[in-house]
Amino acid sequence: MTDTTSYDVLIVGSGAAGLSLALELSGKASVAVISKGRLEESSTYYAQGGIAAVLDETDSIKSHIQDTLDAGAGLCDPKAVRFIVENGRKAIEKLIDYGVDFSREDNPDNGGQEYHLTREGGHSHRRVIHAADATGRAVETTLVERVMKAQGVTLLDHHLAVDLIRDKLPDGAPGRCIGAYALDIRNDHVSVYRARTVVLATGGASKVYLYTSNPDGSTGDGIAMAWRAGAQVANMEFTQFHPTCLFHPEAKSFLITEALRGEGGRLKLIDGTRFMKQFDKRGELAPRDIVARAIDHEMKRTGDEYVLLDISHKPAEFITEHFPNVYRRCLEFGFDITKEPIPVVPAAHYTCGGVVTDLNGRTDVEGLYAIGEVAYTGLHGANRIASNSLLECLVLSASCGTDIIEQLDSFPEPPMPAEWDESWVRDSDEDVVISHNWNELRHFMWDYVGIVRTDKRLERAKRRVDLLLGEIAEYYGNFRISGDLLELRNLAVVADLIIRSAMSRKESRGLHYTLDYPESKTVAIEPTVLSPEGK
Ligand code: FAD
Ligand code: SIN
Repeated sequence: MTDTTSYDVLIVGSGAAGLSLALELSGKASVAVISKGRLEESSTYYAQGGIAAVLDETDSIKSHIQDTLDAGAGLCDPKAVRFIVENGRKAIEKLIDYGVDFSREDNPDNGGQEYHLTREGGHSHRRVIHAADATGRAVETTLVERVMKAQGVTLLDHHLAVDLIRDKLPDGAPGRCIGAYALDIRNDHVSVYRARTVVLATGGASKVYLYTSNPDGSTGDGIAMAWRAGAQVANMEFTQFHPTCLFHPEAKSFLITEALRGEGGRLKLIDGTRFMKQFDKRGELAPRDIVARAIDHEMKRTGDEYVLLDISHKPAEFITEHFPNVYRRCLEFGFDITKEPIPVVPAAHYTCGGVVTDLNGRTDVEGLYAIGEVAYTGLHGANRIASNSLLECLVLSASCGTDIIEQLDSFPEPPMPAEWDESWVRDSDEDVVISHNWNELRHFMWDYVGIVRTDKRLERAKRRVDLLLGEIAEYYGNFRISGDLLELRNLAVVADLIIRSAMSRKESRGLHYTLDYPESKTVAIEPTVLSPEGK
């Protein structure tokens, strides 16, 4: 017998998007939040730079909108950009109310204190509110503290959602989303979570690349589950590569925040030459796609394994006050950033595409919402501007919460879904297949579908992913599931979506750069929307 539990709302994911939504719904609906690791473990926890919002009186909504549109290289949905930017201040005020302790500075004019706003690439104003250089930790720990006390919210950590469940219509076609199967990792047991509505808040998919700034859980599970359940996805070719991750064999892609460049950090070749001005007049503060591509170009030209990021010309006190986390971590690896430059390389950082939603997080599958990095709202276009991601998580969790509360009474009671059936599977006797395929996938994605692409490389990647999809499907059909197998299965689906989207974009734009079509098209500029077959 499969255990079944029933809730009004099932939220999959406990980062900024999932937990903020749970707080919106607390006391108004019965809610379960499931999370595949510890509750805090998420990209949110590792966010450094901060959250972009118009908070300074010399800044304007118009300017934040324009910077977002410019970075997005002609592919942002202006309606989404306006909605999210306009709701920025409210979202920040809510976090402050929850108790997030953002950094402040003295105001010499009135002798008081005000929130310090830092600057990042592509922003024409200082508008990034932050908690030193560990903003995500401050946000996530505050949200976790609040949600643990929230009324009507059940928290299930170490539960990995396997697949969404859809009702069957009388003609056999798939109906509403009515819950999900989830693997209780500690007890190795699959349960059914029934719900009147399900919200995916599962984050991004950057783990599909060999080098990434993301934690291990960013395996695109929500995108793959939504795709298998019949939802549309868009703009998957636009993976953002963060220009500056620490280059060190044991650092596991530790991010060096863009705010370091915002506060004066300079990019240099190993011989000390600065190079960014040759690529963009904004220099180190050009949008990320430009900086990452410039670094990639210089590394290929010189044959060097890394470039340098240098802030040591600033006073040591300034550096340790603004970047205590980066300073400490680099010191652990032998680099004193107050005295010497940091070796850095680009790494996969953010999934700009995702499950297509409206501005309340509704997908095109009835009963299924998606919010946060898993979703595609149209905000980021072909390249996300720094610190707009947490902003999107917060604004969409609020609008999604309002929409769910308004609709809840009209959502039908979910029927009892089919039990999880593993009667025909056996224990795997060759787990090496999983680790081998996992490594192979991430390697060819890095080599063939990275910062610079060509038709030939994409074709090679497509042949390999097709082979892996077949092998994984066979393995999945025969052996008992495990967390690693489920994540590999999802990564392969996401890799396939990325490759297919990249193959269909016959131009270079934002984060998608191909040597075969180096120019941007001037007409018919559309997002890449993929629909599952048979929908
Ligand atoms: P996440 O925070 O990634 O949370 C996803 C949740 O889903 C996790 O709880 C995970 O366990 C759970 N989950 C996933 N799959 C499953 C499954 N199958 N079953 C159950 N649970 C599942 N953005 C900014 O705006 N500003 C920044 O300064 C910034 N800095 C960053 C620094 C780093 C190092 C990184 C990696 C990202 C940074 N970003 C930043 C991006 C931003 O942090 C993320 O886009 C954002 O936090 C995503 O939030 P989320 O709630 O959508 O997903
Ligand atoms: C950073 O701090 O550089 C990351 C900011 C972001 O990804 O938005």
